[in-house]
Amino acid sequence: MKKHGLIIINSFSYSEIFKNQTKRLSDEFEKLGVNIDIRRNCNIDVYLDNYNIVNNIKQYDFVVYLDKDKYAARMIEKSNQLIFNSPKALELCDDKIQTYIALTQNNIKMPKTIASPLRFYKTDIDDGSFIKKVAELLSFPLIVKGAFGSLGNKVFLAHNFEELQSLREKMIDIPHLYQEFIAESVGTDTRVIVIGNIVRAAMIRKSETDFRSNIELGGKGYPVVLKESFIEMAQKTSKILGLDYCGIDILTDSQGNPVLCEVNSNAFFNTIEKVSNVNVAGFYARHIFDKVYKN
Ligand SMILES: Nc1ncnc2c1ncn2[C@@H]1O[C@H](COP(=O)(O)OP(=O)(O)O)[C@@H](O)[C@H]1O
Ligand SMILES: [Mg+2]
Repeated sequence: MKKHGLIIINSFSYSEIFKNQTKRLSDEFEKLGVNIDIRRNCNIDVYLDNYNIVNNIKQYDFVVYLDKDKYAARMIEKSNQLIFNSPKALELCDDKIQTYIALTQNNIKMPKTIASPLRFYKTDIDDGSFIKKVAELLSFPLIVKGAFGSLGNKVFLAHNFEELQSLREKMIDIPHLYQEFIAESVGTDTRVIVIGNIVRAAMIRKSETDFRSNIELGGKGYPVVLKESFIEMAQKTSKILGLDYCGIDILTDSQGNPVLCEVNSNAFFNTIEKVSNVNVAGFYARHIFDKVYKN
């Protein structure tokens, strides 16, 4: 029987990096004898109707979901179709605060982190006591970070109380967190790709111009041989969150030990494939192939 998979991508993303990601993955599936179609979420392939979910993509053996739109993902899963990553894992990763909570009590070191209380109405009053406590619990400079963000776009550094206050005003109506700044790691982190709970590729990311190491903000990737402690942390993290594929950002403390920064369920692999010389797309396609067809 013909093998047929579907890659779903975000309705609004047209960047080259997205196109390349999708093409690489679909080429690797074709090599395994799986035909791949690509669709955007705006096709309304799944929706609710009376008692049930209408699923117009059931002809595919599986869906690779290169998006973070949790609603369509949940509908695909609920209509009993195989989907990678699992929607639960995707949701846990999308919200950085939920990621940290899920990973606690597992001997995974994370920066000290305070979740901002959620304010639901702009007219509600902030009496200023919370931010004072934040400044007592953490020392400057400290990180202010949106719970939902990527490519470094909601990550800021507050050097003093005035900057902290002004960042709080900016972020108060979106879920966000305050976090210990791992100063030894300024501008640098280790990006680790884990597929099927096995580390497959890694690189150091380093920026000369920004405290954030994101490639999209000018960081450069360099080859690295991972220490055992980094491998252990990455594999354990992926397993706890239930991920098939992820890119984990790891900081390093003053003793050279790993400190977990965040987990990306849809990590780009363009740069890391070049830097590490690993066929990341091939590993992911093979992992999915084995899960779908080798049972
Ligand atoms: N607590 C921290 N201490 C030091 N650097 C940090 C910290 N948090 C984030 N960074 C830097 O900012 C970058 C972006 O933060 P991250 O949490 O990965 O958000 P994003 O999802 O936007 O990539 C990280 O790769 C790292 O270089
Ligand atoms: Mg990151």
